[in-house]
Amino acid sequence: MSKTIMLLGSGELGKEFVIAVKRLGQRVIAVDSYDDAPAQQVADKREVIDMLDGNALDAIVAKHKPDIIVPEIEAIRTERFYDYEQQGIQMVPSARAANFTMNRKAIRDLAARDLGLRTANYLYAASLDELRTAVAEVGLPCVVKPLMSSSGKGQSTVRSEADIEKAWSYSQSGKRGDIAEVIVEAFVAFHTEITLLTVTQKNGPTLFCPPIGHRQERGDYQESWQPCRISPEHLSQAQQIAGKVTEALSGAGIWGVEFFLAADGLYFSELSPRPHDTGMVTLTGTQNLSEFELHARAVLGLPIPGIELLRVGASAVILADKAGTNPSFDGVEKALEQPGSDIRIFGKPTTRPYRRMGVALMSGESDSDVELVRQQAIANAAKVRVVCDELE
Ligand SMILES: Nc1ncnc2c1ncn2[C@@H]1O[C@H](COP(=O)(O)OP(=O)(O)O)[C@@H](O)[C@H]1O
Ligand SMILES: [Mg+2]
Repeated sequence: MSKTIMLLGSGELGKEFVIAVKRLGQRVIAVDSYDDAPAQQVADKREVIDMLDGNALDAIVAKHKPDIIVPEIEAIRTERFYDYEQQGIQMVPSARAANFTMNRKAIRDLAARDLGLRTANYLYAASLDELRTAVAEVGLPCVVKPLMSSSGKGQSTVRSEADIEKAWSYSQSGKRGDIAEVIVEAFVAFHTEITLLTVTQKNGPTLFCPPIGHRQERGDYQESWQPCRISPEHLSQAQQIAGKVTEALSGAGIWGVEFFLAADGLYFSELSPRPHDTGMVTLTGTQNLSEFELHARAVLGLPIPGIELLRVGASAVILADKAGTNPSFDGVEKALEQPGSDIRIFGKPTTRPYRRMGVALMSGESDSDVELVRQQAIANAAKVRVVCDELE
């Protein structure tokens, strides 16, 4: 059963997914907006197009006739996915899921209004005036995010009225596409933030990975660890919620379902219908199958007999600090000295400040202290320095 898979978005998560499906004998065309993106380096074929251009997407779909289309990012003309699904192409996890999750409004209204899930209080605003009114209603502090954006782009926290104007202009410069509207969310003073990797299957029950804890800065993840110890009650609540949202969005694949855990309980935050960056911790062998192997099996309809936690693990990002080309990495040998340590260099051809270039991984026996493993991953990431030819 060799299938042709078209991967839309060819970053580091796509690269690991390609490796997982190649190991299962599949053919992959990796697509991105620039050439030599990480997943393209390990795929059979590549295409370089603007994935927000519906005609360009149609053209490569007609050219390669994929059996399965797997989105790796949000910035795609996802409205076209319904058409592809009609044509008999398997959209991962489904056209509906990809289309809903690319817009914060669609997914938030589904979760909070239709499914009645607990989220931070929120309102929408389509102008600076509306933002002032919304902030007054939601209360301070609050978080302002463009409806279409990812990785914290255009997102800021409003702590006083003086921040409102800045938050509006920041949202407008960081948004994707031409929708000006923002979501205004009450700030949740969480003590723990988790990703619950959830696997929906064509023939089989929905499965859950042990929760992953993570820490974010500038809207991007800095480190993650697994398992994140939370109470059995919160875990079962989170699983129920993840089950409900993924069922409502439909389809087969892995999902990263994000939650905040605060003194007053669990809040649903958002979800991605694909492997999650914080889930790179599963590359340390914390589970019998990594999130990429799980995605591969779910997408292909192959059996997943169960998900087992084998080790504890942590990941910490390796970031560039300036814009440049021809990146290379100093200190890798130091980062690999300890038993249980590993590294992934993504192979991105260029750097820019804060760009994620690699990840340091660390794992320990199942009874090791997660806190310690976490510190080791961070220390190992800090040993690696990205050097590059600086751009003028
Ligand atoms: N309402 C909120 N209260 C507190 N922190 C938040 C809130 N919304 C987002 N954050 C923080 O910002 C991060 C990114 O926000 P998120 O909604 O997940 O956007 P993205 O789509 O960019 O991942 C979250 O992981 C969390 O750390
Ligand atoms: Mg997020």
